[in-house]
Amino acid sequence: MECRPFLKWVGGKRQLLPELKRRLPKRFERYHEPFVGGGALFFDQRPHLASLYDNNPDLIELYGVVRDRVEELIAALYRHKIAHQEGREAYFYQIRDLDRGGGLAALDAIERAARFVYLNRTCFNGVYRVNREGFFNVPYGRYKNPLICDEPNLRACSEALKHATLSHGDFEQVLDGAQPGDFVYFDPPYVPLSATANFTGYTAGGFDESMQLRLRDVCDRLGQKGVFVMLSNSSAKWVIETYRAGGYKVEKVKATRAINAHGHKRGAINEVIVRNYTRNGLLHG
Ligand SMILES: C[S@@+](CC[C@H](N)C(=O)[O-])C[C@H]1O[C@@H](n2cnc3c(N)ncnc32)[C@H](O)[C@@H]1O
Repeated sequence: MECRPFLKWVGGKRQLLPELKRRLPKRFERYHEPFVGGGALFFDQRPHLASLYDNNPDLIELYGVVRDRVEELIAALYRHKIAHQEGREAYFYQIRDLDRGGGLAALDAIERAARFVYLNRTCFNGVYRVNREGFFNVPYGRYKNPLICDEPNLRACSEALKHATLSHGDFEQVLDGAQPGDFVYFDPPYVPLSATANFTGYTAGGFDESMQLRLRDVCDRLGQKGVFVMLSNSSAKWVIETYRAGGYKVEKVKATRAINAHGHKRGAINEVIVRNYTRNGLLHG
């Protein structure tokens, strides 16, 4: 059954999907996605054998609830939907601020998952952001008619996840799971476009140069194990040079981002797709 991501996710890959799909290996065993986020490629492909990972524990818990307890989640989302029609912005802040008052401790896994989806659908641009104390701090999104419970799509996503294994943690753990003949798709936080020789300072989620280098190292080790690797990133000079130097195939592609911070359309921007294989098989390893 066709499905699409059940979350809005910053960096979601829906615009890049045609480019990614055309570059998938012809055949592979297990699908691995260590920065799963909204999971655009996974939900498009619905591979039979899959391992999904992310270092956001709430996100991974939510995926588990969608997989195993989707009917209870749907019921909880309908309760939010009705309360939202009444309370709108005031209800949004009541639910968002449960973490500040220690109210989260009283919620069970279903209610935590429903809160995650509800906030994702009603907060500003569907951004996920917590402050230093771990409190969700994205403001209200002012949508006239947010789709809080997309029942058919949630059920389809649940079906797609039925055989997937889920783990919370750093991307490097994929090294333990991936076997020869498997396929790994990495969609990390992007290198800033301005990065030339190196980059330091603020990066999303602390994903700085040393993390990007560790990621390339993980790609190298996967290749040595006989694993197919595909990675998307920005077209920063740093990315192109770092992966070309390692013998990877690096291709610039255009992706149209549907919305920018001001809510209107923006032109095509360049991203890169990096692979350690071509139609003829692995490039090195
Ligand atoms: C660009 S998003 C992935 C978007 C996804 N491809 C989609 O279609 O929605 C990057 C994801 O990586 C996760 N992440 C950040 N640092 C990580 C790390 N060190 N290990 C694992 N996941 C990480 C974030 O929580 C986020 O969900």
